[in-house]
Amino acid sequence: MKNRLTIAVQKKGRLFDQSIDLIKKSGINFSTKGDNLLAKSNNLPIDILFVRSDDIPSLVSNGDADLAIVGENVLLEKSLFKRTYIDKVLYLGFSRCRLSFACPENINIRSFKGKKIATSYPNTVKKYLKDKNINASVVNIHGSVELTPYIGMSDLICDLVSSGATLEANNLKEIETILESQAILIKNKNLSTAKTKIAEKVISRMQGVVNAIESKYVMLNADSSKVQEICKILPGSESPTVIPLENENKVAIHALCQEPIFWETMEKLKAKGASSILVMPVEKVLN
Ligand code: PRP
Repeated sequence: MKNRLTIAVQKKGRLFDQSIDLIKKSGINFSTKGDNLLAKSNNLPIDILFVRSDDIPSLVSNGDADLAIVGENVLLEKSLFKRTYIDKVLYLGFSRCRLSFACPENINIRSFKGKKIATSYPNTVKKYLKDKNINASVVNIHGSVELTPYIGMSDLICDLVSSGATLEANNLKEIETILESQAILIKNKNLSTAKTKIAEKVISRMQGVVNAIESKYVMLNADSSKVQEICKILPGSESPTVIPLENENKVAIHALCQEPIFWETMEKLKAKGASSILVMPVEKVLN
């Protein structure tokens, strides 16, 4: 595998589907069979490694994997209090969640001082408590954290929240968020020159896919006297194309907008006299 770039991804869990989707949209073709833990790309010198999320930061830091897609929550937890050789390369915008304190709904917790906190993120919680100068004890548990207040193991928990359904199902209420997280692309700091070249290609393509997620191609017609005002409203567009129309007072404006287009934006365009406003999805953007 000396000159083949390895990309580690979660083998199952919240990041899996979107990680695979991103790799495929980046033009890295591969197929997997059953529970194979390694997939070889057939069009680029790249291998995909399917591993446990928790192992990803150390695999990348030690150079056993070159690139990886991991939750920022896991990256932080596994990198705290030690030296790592990892570069954060690109925020990927998916698997957004937060790490929050929560306690049973019928209990009021005013201060964490002296409390027992159960979590699968002991380093992150300890760092938070240290920064805030709070003296509390941290109980490390790998799963079913929500159960711990009910069996006397903890007073409160600190766990990942996404939709909030798990907390609700366990009659827990969120008290305070300590970390907002999303998927992130990371890279080993010391790649060889040959691997750096392949990694740069992958990173640029992934950036292109991520850029496209919020990008829209907007087309509309407007009075030629309104071009400047309308262009100011189009979010994140560099230099729109203005095309004359048969009606001499009218032009068509086409723009790549690299920020979300909300209904409010369209309504503002309409108020400036824009008509036939089309907003279309964009598949890839290479800036
Ligand atoms: C996390 C967390 C909760 C759940 C919260 O588990 O531990 O159980 O997600 O999500 P919700 O707010 O949408 O209900 P995850 O699925 O990441 O697996 P884990 O138990 O391995 O952490």
